Amino acid sequence: MTMLAVERENAYQLKTYKKFPLTVERGEDVWLYTSDGERYLDLYGGHAVVVTGHCHPRVVDAIRAQAERLIFYSNLVYNDVRAEAAQRLMDVAPAGLTKVFFVNSGAEANENALKLARKLTGRPGIISFEGGFHGRTVGALSATGIKKYRAASGPLLPDHYFAPFGDLEKTATVMNEEIAGVLVEPIQSLAGVRLASAEFYQGLRRLCDEHGAMLMYDEVQTGFGRTGEFFFTPQYGVTPDMITLAKGIASGVPMGAVLVSDRIAERVGYGDLGTTFGGGPLACAALRATIEVVQEDRLLENVRAQSDYLREQLASLNDIEEVRGLGFLIGIQFKREASIYQQHLLANRILTGLSDDPYVLRLLPPLTLQRRVIDYFLDTLSEIERELT
Ligand SMILES: Cc1ncc(COP(=O)(O)O)c(C=O)c1O
Repeated sequence: MTMLAVERENAYQLKTYKKFPLTVERGEDVWLYTSDGERYLDLYGGHAVVVTGHCHPRVVDAIRAQAERLIFYSNLVYNDVRAEAAQRLMDVAPAGLTKVFFVNSGAEANENALKLARKLTGRPGIISFEGGFHGRTVGALSATGIKKYRAASGPLLPDHYFAPFGDLEKTATVMNEEIAGVLVEPIQSLAGVRLASAEFYQGLRRLCDEHGAMLMYDEVQTGFGRTGEFFFTPQYGVTPDMITLAKGIASGVPMGAVLVSDRIAERVGYGDLGTTFGGGPLACAALRATIEVVQEDRLLENVRAQSDYLREQLASLNDIEEVRGLGFLIGIQFKREASIYQQHLLANRILTGLSDDPYVLRLLPPLTLQRRVIDYFLDTLSEIERELT
């Protein structure tokens, strides 16, 4: 590890993250290269971001070409790349969602969705779910159902209500004519990769329709191919009124988006929403290239095939209680604390993620992950299992 980078970051950067003890210099597909010349397998996908793998050549070319033409101008002007990126995004968006507002992060996407729900219904209330994570800004945090993130932030926004994830009956008890919208993370990733039943999502749609509230899916993690489809929507035949996106949509160039239905779009006017950087040409070039790579490299098919294989193999390991999730959003519930396995995997130069559930290890690899690399991971995990018994 280059001491210089470690010492300097520690000296000059706020200590907000417990970092992996490595200094990453370069990335290529599922691999990272450190300053010590070591190679790591990145099954955490650059924090669930690099859907096309690290530095996909076509994404790099698109960013380089755009940087030479125009790095930035805001939405105050028209731009050919933004126009094409918006059209391409709406071409792959679930039917029923027709327009996009570009932002810069997941939290910002959720802030804007919450704001639109409140503005367009004229109501104050928001329902979200215990275990859901929506970001660190005050509005997004007010909807986040994990206590440790809310703690010590002072008073959060009023009129936020929580229900247990997956429990439609309890959700119905907090629904009324003062509720503007329901914000749900369709697969609760940080909570330990938890899914609800089809009836829950369908019931949320019904409940929102009955009470004139908006249904918002936070697809910051589930979007852009992670589940083996472009989006979690329209799983179970449910289409929300808004979808929020971020993480991998521009392969690591910061970008978020709010997708909305026609019904919402026609009621949004000049000045209702704003952001300086949202929809900048550089990010839009990366978004357009990301969509092309997902389609042309058939990454959705790859996720479906490799995920089935990976889960099947994982399920046969002794130390594993359950394998949860969809596609390449995988939660492995161990019989012992997941951090033990994470540390051993790290010692074997494989990066994985923890979750809010101490027994669940998360894999959020690039969508490009291939079978031979999966076998390498499985062999390493079996070896660790043997060492630990
Ligand atoms: C489901 C979900 N929503 C929102 C966010 C917040 O995104 P950002 O960190 O880009 O603000 C995250 C980040 O991890 C997330 O996983």
